[in-house]
Amino acid sequence: MKAPFITIEGVEGAGKSTQAARVAAHLEARGVPRLALREPGGTELGEKLRDLILNDTHIAMEAGTETLLLMASRRELIDRAIRPALEAGRVVLCDRFIDSTLAYQGYGRGLGADWIRRLFDLSCHGFYPDLTLLLDLPVEEGRERLRRPLNDRFEREEHAFHERVREGFLSIAGTEPERVQAVPAHGSGDEVFERVLGCLRRRFGTIF
Ligand SMILES: Nc1ncnc2c1ncn2[C@@H]1O[C@H](COP(=O)(O)OP(=O)(O)OP(=O)(O)O)[C@@H](O)[C@H]1O
Ligand SMILES: [Mg+2]
Repeated sequence: MKAPFITIEGVEGAGKSTQAARVAAHLEARGVPRLALREPGGTELGEKLRDLILNDTHIAMEAGTETLLLMASRRELIDRAIRPALEAGRVVLCDRFIDSTLAYQGYGRGLGADWIRRLFDLSCHGFYPDLTLLLDLPVEEGRERLRRPLNDRFEREEHAFHERVREGFLSIAGTEPERVQAVPAHGSGDEVFERVLGCLRRRFGTIF
């Protein structure tokens, strides 16, 4: 079986990084070769773009420009990290990917999912994941989990923006039910991990 490319998505504080780390640890314990990545970033250039995009320095940026920078970071990640790892037989796990751009820029910023998908096809080979786990949690509950100053350019957006992002994620899951599995993200980390593992086992069997 070809090594799978799996992404984890969801609103701020849904538990993406927590669950990504648990899945990676689970694979490590089973001796399965894997590569864990995050977006934006994951390459030398991508990490520099991440600083610009998340923008602690408060540089103003058009929504379209923001999207192009995200796609540039993604292209680097696909060509330099994801594809080589998959070809070497490693499971690739990525914390955020194309669905975050669809949800945040397409729905949140209102650029529309169609334009984002066309851009992804042109600039990133339309390289969709084999499976996307959408950790779904009400926006407020994610915010409560974070318990830290909300500083980056997305975290500072108004509540309605984040509601559009959540609805966007759910809409993508409705459009692509084969690829995108919504996983309820309420409950303890252990409970969420059991749901995540259930999805992964149903799809990929004994690797997990
Ligand atoms: N199931 C859970 N129940 C309660 N708290 C949780 C749960 N999962 C994660 N947390 C805690 O919530 C906070 C946010 O989790 P995490 O960083 O994994 O979310 P995230 O989706 O990666 O957030 P971000 O969008 O900011 O990257 C962390 O402090 C984490 O320890
Ligand atoms: Mg995170």
